[in-house]
Amino acid sequence: MVQIYRQFSQQRKQKCSKKIVRADLVTRVPLNCSFEIDDAEDPWLFSHKFDYIHARGVVTCFKDIRQVIGSAFEFLVPGGYLEFKDGIFPPSYAEPPPADSAFVKWITIILEEVEKAGRPWTKAKHYANYMRDVGFVDVIEHKTTLAAGPWPEDEKGKKLGRWHLTNWLQVVDALTPKILANAGWDEEEIKVLVALVRSELTGGKIKVYNEMIGVWGRKPPIMEDK
Ligand SMILES: C[S@@+](CC[C@H](N)C(=O)[O-])C[C@H]1O[C@@H](n2cnc3c(N)ncnc32)[C@H](O)[C@@H]1O
Repeated sequence: MVQIYRQFSQQRKQKCSKKIVRADLVTRVPLNCSFEIDDAEDPWLFSHKFDYIHARGVVTCFKDIRQVIGSAFEFLVPGGYLEFKDGIFPPSYAEPPPADSAFVKWITIILEEVEKAGRPWTKAKHYANYMRDVGFVDVIEHKTTLAAGPWPEDEKGKKLGRWHLTNWLQVVDALTPKILANAGWDEEEIKVLVALVRSELTGGKIKVYNEMIGVWGRKPPIMEDK
């Protein structure tokens, strides 16, 4: 999902002056948004440019994120910002996982299969360079970590870990059947692996976390004449 914000210059002094356009493959429309169903990898056809474009959790979505970054660059006003928030894959481990870990087996196969299918999940660490390549300036990367489970010591880490565990379980449930079926697995094998992965994640057998990345950069305020 790509969220795009346009601040009309004549409304800058007014409260609630943002016009928000959300482009996605499905619709859930907050009151202050207009929503457009669009594939962000298709050519962008908006009739105006934007001050700010934001995309979160899109690392699994695109064949080539560079094309989306190029479209965002084109559709920003000079001086406008593009921002990403995403998780780094492969995930990391706070303690070495067991040698026979179903989770490790699962993530290894999934990352190989999505790479083969031309939809790699491993590009978030390159967003900053991709942005610089198309001409963004003042590109900043901010990294944090997010546990997949309530195993961190501190209360905030536990709370975020519970939420992020839900993310992980949804990814496991939603994406495994199709990816592994395409790779020739039968339904029963898939169900068994999914159950083992869920059990490791929810049972605290492994301490998985993601590095999370925030990247933002600016389209140069004045473009050079060619
Ligand atoms: C992991 S969800 C993240 C949702 C939301 N941005 C968030 O952070 O909670 C990925 C979203 O990207 C959308 N998506 C996937 N492929 C897309 C594409 N090619 N163009 C536009 N949106 C896409 C999905 O429909 C889904 O809403």
